[in-house]
Amino acid sequence: MDIVTTIAAVRERVAAWRAAGEQVAFVPTMGNLHAGHISLIELARRHGQRFVASIFVNPMQFGPNEDFNHYPRTPGRDAGMLAEAGCDLMFQPDVAEMYPSAPDIATRVEVPGLSTILCGEFRPGHFEGVATVVAKLFNIVQPDVAVFGEKDFQQLTVIRRMVADLCLPVRIVGAPTMREADGLAMSSRNQYLDATQRGLAPRLYAELQRAVAVIEGGGRDFAALESAATARLAAAGFQVDYFAVRRAADLQLPQADDAELVALVAARLGRARLIDNLRIVAGPPRTT
Ligand code: PAF
Repeated sequence: MDIVTTIAAVRERVAAWRAAGEQVAFVPTMGNLHAGHISLIELARRHGQRFVASIFVNPMQFGPNEDFNHYPRTPGRDAGMLAEAGCDLMFQPDVAEMYPSAPDIATRVEVPGLSTILCGEFRPGHFEGVATVVAKLFNIVQPDVAVFGEKDFQQLTVIRRMVADLCLPVRIVGAPTMREADGLAMSSRNQYLDATQRGLAPRLYAELQRAVAVIEGGGRDFAALESAATARLAAAGFQVDYFAVRRAADLQLPQADDAELVALVAARLGRARLIDNLRIVAGPPRTT
């Protein structure tokens, strides 16, 4: 595996592969890789002969009081994991390479509507930072396929919409969420949890499963379901940003006859802000 830090070096490698008729699959990451990332990488490798991963903790997607400075950075370990997973090229730029005119970043990619709801309400500017860096990475790597985890369901929805609106020639593939044995979705931020918080954290998944069961059974009182789940999580010690049932396609409020839904949750436990979601195929509405 080659490790490069410049845009020019990525372009040179990828151009040579393209000239040889090879397809390029890409997984953008912020590093500190875990089994969840490796599952994205294994999926990506099925979609191309060449595989690129980026490691870049993107300052533009962190708010002023968020964990940019403390976000876990483990580049040596990440490189070993990527090489073992069969990665051809690891792109590890620094901030000056990605944002040459920082802090004056004039050009930004916005996906209004999708970017300001749910997590966007609690993390202003976050999805603008994600969409901007992903657009830049797509422009640098020019992949045929890019893989993103379904755990970040809103991020995946924003990126799909950006790709469609900007007519970007890249196919977006969603990869299923990887979970610990007790159901907690894998995340680099789980390491912020102390032992007591780690014991509580799987309740997020349990509440999502409960919502899925109710809606699959024909329940349609989404507001009641959301406030009951929020109250139970708050009583258990979570600071809940939201627990929401939305249409899976566009994250808008569901109507009673929408069948493809998603339940999403974001909540804080100590220093960790945890997110998770579960897709739902709603059963016929209960009439009683
Ligand atoms: O999901 C992430 O790790 C990041 O948001 C991404 C997509 C790599 C953009 O910085």
